[in-house]
Amino acid sequence: MSEDKSRHHAAEQQTADVSEAQIAVHWPEEDYFSPSNQFIAQANLADPGVFARFSLDNFPEYFKEFADLLDWYKYWETTFDASHPPFWRWFVGGRINACYNCVDRHLPRYRNKTAIHFVPEPENEAIQHLTYQELFVRVNEFAALLRDFGGLKAGDRVTLHMPMVAELPITMLACARLGVIHSQVFSGFSGKACGDRVSDSGSRLLITMDAYSRAGELIDHKQKADTAVMEAAGTGHQVDKVLIWQRYPGKYSSPTKLVEGRDVIINDVLKEFRGKRVEPVQMPAEAPLFLMYTSGTTGRPKGCQHSTGGYLAYVTWTSKYIQDIHPEDVYWCMADIGWITGHSYIVYGPLALAASSVVYEGVPMYPDAGRPWRIAENLDVNIFHTSPTAIRALRRNGPDEPAKYNFHFKHMTTVGEPIEPEVWKWYHTVVGKGEAVIVDTWWQTENGGFLCSTVPAIHKMKPGSTGPAIPGIHPVIYDDEGTELPGGSGRAGNICIRNPWPGSFQTIWKDPDRYVSQYYSRYCHDPASKDWRDWPYMAGDGAVQAADGYYRILGRIDDVINVAGHRLGTKEIESAALLVPDVAEAAVVPVADPIKGKVPDLYVSLKPGLVPSVKLANKVTASVVSQIGAIARPRRVVIVPDMPKTRSGKIMRRVLAAISNHQDPGDVSTLANPEIVEQIKELAR
Ligand code: WTA
Repeated sequence: MSEDKSRHHAAEQQTADVSEAQIAVHWPEEDYFSPSNQFIAQANLADPGVFARFSLDNFPEYFKEFADLLDWYKYWETTFDASHPPFWRWFVGGRINACYNCVDRHLPRYRNKTAIHFVPEPENEAIQHLTYQELFVRVNEFAALLRDFGGLKAGDRVTLHMPMVAELPITMLACARLGVIHSQVFSGFSGKACGDRVSDSGSRLLITMDAYSRAGELIDHKQKADTAVMEAAGTGHQVDKVLIWQRYPGKYSSPTKLVEGRDVIINDVLKEFRGKRVEPVQMPAEAPLFLMYTSGTTGRPKGCQHSTGGYLAYVTWTSKYIQDIHPEDVYWCMADIGWITGHSYIVYGPLALAASSVVYEGVPMYPDAGRPWRIAENLDVNIFHTSPTAIRALRRNGPDEPAKYNFHFKHMTTVGEPIEPEVWKWYHTVVGKGEAVIVDTWWQTENGGFLCSTVPAIHKMKPGSTGPAIPGIHPVIYDDEGTELPGGSGRAGNICIRNPWPGSFQTIWKDPDRYVSQYYSRYCHDPASKDWRDWPYMAGDGAVQAADGYYRILGRIDDVINVAGHRLGTKEIESAALLVPDVAEAAVVPVADPIKGKVPDLYVSLKPGLVPSVKLANKVTASVVSQIGAIARPRRVVIVPDMPKTRSGKIMRRVLAAISNHQDPGDVSTLANPEIVEQIKELAR
């Protein structure tokens, strides 16, 4: 058995009687790795004094340093307003425009510098290098179109369902220029999932693209817009216009017909706006910049509302000091802009710093596992950012590929899920060629930017641990009773953040109660308190803190499955299964996967008298894919005669999870139907 496998095995054996939060990571403590002197010498932040400056005693004024990285039309009066906990307000009274800060302000010095390198997936298509001047021109023209043709004004919402193309940041920045709130939905999500988000956000306009390239195929993307509009209409929400970018300008690349009076080809209409300029709208710091939907404990996705001033200040500071971005760097984050990582660390953070940011259309492994390293060599990328899932896949499929290409990263990031020390070491030695520092950044859609990470020129790295908190963030781990679990206690608990920070979301769109109950109620002892100290933010992750202060994140404590670093709600998957009329009950559980970290296994029981069949199982899978998207595709659908249940009728997902992961389900004698466990084991074999 390889070392890898035996570790895996050891982890599995300990898991029968611990909660889901605790099973994720059972790696031994690792030795430290140090950043090179060369890295430290050029780093934006190497002064350990930063932590004293950002001590809680200096809260909230220390966050002024974040906002001072931006250009303001009007300086704020109040750094932090806590008068309506936990609805914090930052930089109150300030006026700012996010697009201005990411584009216009760089023109005097950097107009001829590349802002965006767009790398098409087909390798024979040329890479496009968009300078800051070109970005400025294209953003202005499109902003004029959105305003004068689309009728959009500050405060309106617009849904984007766009692939990884240069037109996506252009669209986001054009919205930001007008103060229009964008809500970009991951292009891999289904038309139905997009439609729900269109409706929830109240978008009258949907912006999409006709087609894009993925794994060697030109995918018809426009068809999803038709489904989305229909789905939204089903909820009583009307979409007036669908604006469609052409993947190949001048040519419509989708077999799906245009709907007269509703569908508009952007590239045609844009001609009327050539040379148009739009003054950036001077927005209040507190105006929402965008919505980002994410999965949570109950069925409906939550629209996390992010602010303009606080959010932009936070992602700019963390990009500068944690990712060590200088204007002369070429920075590549391989995430999708459809997730929060892409918003913060492909678009807003890097562009606010005048970096050159790479936007890659396709999958990392296309056409082979050498592709990312060819791109890195070609563009001379020196900062790289990706997820453990991508690293595992590249390691498995092309462990020797990085050595064949001449690229040198000074800095690499990992994000989204815990990274196994073995995988971390491959990343460090083979991808980083032993030269690059690595930051393992822990945070969430709700948070806007990094919460925990090493500061790369100050801290040593420890594989498998995210590191301490970043300057200005003060975490605490509570047990279920609210007792603090100090570093080195060896006990896992719920990780919370003691203090508010400017990057945090402002609320859940149209659902402020859920914002309070899900993130702040648990450890707040006095709901009437106006003191921010009484309102710790609960992240929903289990964690332990080692004696050296480094945190290790163990996984979600709620009904969320982290598949390949992407959050999927168990309720969303289960409701998709229940749409198949034959299905009586559905339960989804996470299964350990060597590449994706976790994948969903779906158990269903049928209505009385119905007979299980492969066809039916396939129907359930198809329903999940069409409701949510291919990302949620169950590893398998197991049709069972009945679910394991407690005497009160609750489905015991823990038992199903043990079966799926080939673990001992433990004592099942207290179940209402203990005999079912053996039957399910047989079926799931
Ligand atoms: C998990 C992604 C371990 C965690 C930015 C969190 C991590 C969820 C890490 C948020 C990490 C994120 N180590 N686990 N470095 N980063 N997670 O909202 O469970 O898509 O709650 O945001 O991913 O996922 P989300």
